[in-house]
Amino acid sequence: MTDPLLLPRVDRLTRASGAYLLDAATRISGPDELLGTVAWLQAALRPVTGLPLRDGDGDGTGITLDLDPALDDEGYRVEVRPAGVRITGGTAAGVFYGAQVLLQLLPPEVHRRSLVEGVEWSVPAVDVADSPRFGWRGMHLDVARHFMPAHDVMRLIDLMAMHRLNTLHWHLTEDQGWRIEILKYPRLTTVGAWRASSQVGAGPEATQDGRPHGGFYTQADIREVVAYAAARHVTIVPEVDVPGHSMAAITAYPHLGVGAVELGGAPVPEPRQIAVGTEWGIFDDVLNTEQSTVDFYRDVLTEVMALFPGTWIGVGGDECPKAQWQSDPRTQELMRERGLADEEQLQAWFIGQLDEHVTAAGRRTFGWDEILEGHGAAGARPMSPGATVASWRGMTGAVTAARLGYDVVACPDDQVYLDYRQSDSPDEPIPVSIVLGLEDVYAFEPVPAELTPEEARHVLGGQANVWTEHMDSPRTVDFLVFPRLCAVADVLWSDAPRDFAGFSARLDHHLLRLDAAGVEYHRASGPLPWQTRPGVPGRPASREERAAYIAEVTANIA
Ligand code: ACM
Repeated sequence: MTDPLLLPRVDRLTRASGAYLLDAATRISGPDELLGTVAWLQAALRPVTGLPLRDGDGDGTGITLDLDPALDDEGYRVEVRPAGVRITGGTAAGVFYGAQVLLQLLPPEVHRRSLVEGVEWSVPAVDVADSPRFGWRGMHLDVARHFMPAHDVMRLIDLMAMHRLNTLHWHLTEDQGWRIEILKYPRLTTVGAWRASSQVGAGPEATQDGRPHGGFYTQADIREVVAYAAARHVTIVPEVDVPGHSMAAITAYPHLGVGAVELGGAPVPEPRQIAVGTEWGIFDDVLNTEQSTVDFYRDVLTEVMALFPGTWIGVGGDECPKAQWQSDPRTQELMRERGLADEEQLQAWFIGQLDEHVTAAGRRTFGWDEILEGHGAAGARPMSPGATVASWRGMTGAVTAARLGYDVVACPDDQVYLDYRQSDSPDEPIPVSIVLGLEDVYAFEPVPAELTPEEARHVLGGQANVWTEHMDSPRTVDFLVFPRLCAVADVLWSDAPRDFAGFSARLDHHLLRLDAAGVEYHRASGPLPWQTRPGVPGRPASREERAAYIAEVTANIA
């Protein structure tokens, strides 16, 4: 038999002779610290095998889970012999990854949810020793452009865990919708969680569907998802995006907007009433920077921090046009009062106010690479040392941030934006931006070559970003995310030299697991008929066009 085809790739795998057969006598045991992992493994194996898999007493037979502090936190060993299976991890997370590998050593049908008959639940005898290259192995998910119900988010978390990914960057607010209940400001969801219509397609020929869209998570939903993720060793980094991408909030609470003047028009006495966005893009309607707006968002973040126990709290910061601030006398007055030289510094000031609040609560701020802009001059507020930069406009932000001593998460759009088209076939549905095929994504390298080893230590890892303007259902998310996420997971986990042929061979087998799990991935042959969107326009770009745009917009941080 050939070596088992594990994905992500493991550091060391050696074959021994024989196999362990799961049967009615198999028990699963572990110390008290691992009761959750024992329960998870039982829940994963019982329905599909039909075996009782009772708790064992740790006598070394059956499947034994254990901790070994000498291993890396997320490192683990799996030893399979005909007499039993032993999974040892540095922490419960490591044991969990060992348990995921145990599932991959079983036939792919193990990823089904109910009894599969006629399968021998046999695990080849092996020794696996493994630990990840990076501590931040993530996926970003935009649930604002298209809402994803909590049960589908939890399904994606299961799929992340299967790929030994550990961080979900959850993009919860946007121009087109606010998705998290905030008790102090109920209109954020009663008003801000729905829109009248949605753009269909991209580019000048795009249309509207005329169909209301919406949805939000109650705080009880959020607690459920957070706990579900935690049980799978996935930490959620919530994001409330400011000061751009905020039209849903401004619709709900117009005093948050730059409402005192119409752009280029006469002053109006009341805040302007806008509408939750129905088009995709970057819009001039942004937050004002009054102290009352800072206080509002500090209140929002206080509730967010009470719901999300993880270290990082996202404040966005991307793509904030400055036109309204430039033409608004009140904003200009605030800038003078605060000693700020330009609107870039005002944005840095605003992010700084929230960064201070996050830091005072003992957390760390997570923001897009725009949070590097507007610093340095007198009056601009530097970010706290713990602030962490998501480098998305290529890797310029990663280089700049690491050299300034900030931690970095690499998610360059030209390597890991999973909304970008998967091939140059005209059949790809709503094709946007450049082609990011599986091999392109597999080439993702989170650490910029120009960093010194010391600077490179600031690169915590990377994540794939899943923007959902053109993904209007979980089925479409499956199609754009898989199998490209498998490639991202492989390169974030494994530090072995890249080997696309080897990856492809492992993926061929792994797709059987995805089939069993019901994942509607993109086929190498292209979209299946029902995965196409005939007649819906996209906006493809060439690599040259994209590179020119990115060079222009990152000139400030280069
Ligand atoms: C982004 O893609 N606007 C971060």
